[in-house]
Amino acid sequence: MATTAEPQVPDHVPAELVRNIDLILGEEFLKDPYAFMRSMHGKLPRLFYNTGSPTGGGWMTISHPTAFKALRDQDHFGVPPLFIFPRDEDNWFRMIPLEIPSPDHRKFRNILDPMLSPKGVLALEADITRLANDLIDKIVDKGECEFTTDFARPLPVMVFLSFMGLPVEKLDQFVKWVVALIQFAEFDRAKEIMAEIETYLSTVIEEKRANPDDKAISRIVHATFDGEPMTERDVMGFTFFLFIAGIDTVYAALNNSWLWMARNPDRVKELVADPDNRDLQTEELLRAFAPTFSGRYLTEDLELDGVLMKKGDSFMSFLPACNYDPEVWDNPREIDFTRVKKPILTFTGGIHSCMGGHLARLEFKIGLNEWLRRIPEFSLKPGAEIKYVPSGVVGPESVPLVWDVA
Ligand code: HEM
Repeated sequence: MATTAEPQVPDHVPAELVRNIDLILGEEFLKDPYAFMRSMHGKLPRLFYNTGSPTGGGWMTISHPTAFKALRDQDHFGVPPLFIFPRDEDNWFRMIPLEIPSPDHRKFRNILDPMLSPKGVLALEADITRLANDLIDKIVDKGECEFTTDFARPLPVMVFLSFMGLPVEKLDQFVKWVVALIQFAEFDRAKEIMAEIETYLSTVIEEKRANPDDKAISRIVHATFDGEPMTERDVMGFTFFLFIAGIDTVYAALNNSWLWMARNPDRVKELVADPDNRDLQTEELLRAFAPTFSGRYLTEDLELDGVLMKKGDSFMSFLPACNYDPEVWDNPREIDFTRVKKPILTFTGGIHSCMGGHLARLEFKIGLNEWLRRIPEFSLKPGAEIKYVPSGVVGPESVPLVWDVA
């Protein structure tokens, strides 16, 4: 870990809280992100000012209670425009609901909350189970697969297409778009890709306007606030953001967890032996492998945990590290399926907590259940190289797996 302070640090930041840690883009981070994130506690202050990547200057917390406090504090924190998704200045749209503050934020969430509540997502259970099994059917007799392309990417994309009311034939195109947008490697092309997605979504929105159904895009298109329809730009912003939020995160959580299982056959036996405990197993794997972060900025000066922060400062809750906070969990680096359930920060906290949390958990749980039922023993393909690329969502690029075929 680099620890030398770089120059551009605001005057109000105490020198002893400055660190230069290269997260997301750093070589050491990318070698093994979860080993890196697990090791942050004990080496770093719980709240510090980071001059390294990804923000290049801003507060960062790895403390679970501090992150919760900040995420719940609407009076001092706001969500900045998501810079990795560049938009046309002359035809701007807001990423809804993430870029919307209270109280307007709630009215947008109300449109889809019934579909995404614990009860609402159960309507998708049979579909998800069938989709997971269709994917396993294609590989089970081969004795090998590339988990990312054969399972982790198609499963959430197909669920998402069904949830949104989009044609399943678009699967490959959607995977390409999301991968290109989320990975910083293609940042130069981000504007072009955003325009392609927008053009496609505009046609779908028009189609849903003419032919309503009970799926998510149609509900957004036909929603009204006090009798007024949503603006065309807000319809685009909501649809667009769901597209980004719902696809890559699930893939990363699956990839990280299957990689861990492939490397820990004894722990897989434990999972196989206890199919009735899938909810807690899901929660624990999602705690251990949170793939993303919450970026905010200070809308007012604030003293938090004895540290003075100024209006305009950027602030990041580094969620995967917060989930390893020893103040909250005993042996936080261990994966323990018997833990007493406590709030994990994988889906963040406060008003912007993930709208898809229940859906993501259901996808993960069904994926785990069906996979272990049909492929209970598997390992990494000998010689497999596990690589991480800089991305706003952390997960290995590919996970080649093998298993014995009877
Ligand atoms: C394992 C999978 C997932 C993870 C780890 C995850 C994580 C997160 C996180 C950390 C946030 C907060 C972002 C921030 O504070 O800047 C968030 C917000 C959000 N997520 Fe997810 N997500 C997942 C799956 C999904 C799915 C499947 C959907 C779509 C149905 C979804 C829709 C959303 C939406 C709409 C928001 C914004 C909520 C708001 O601003 O009120 N997510 N998610």
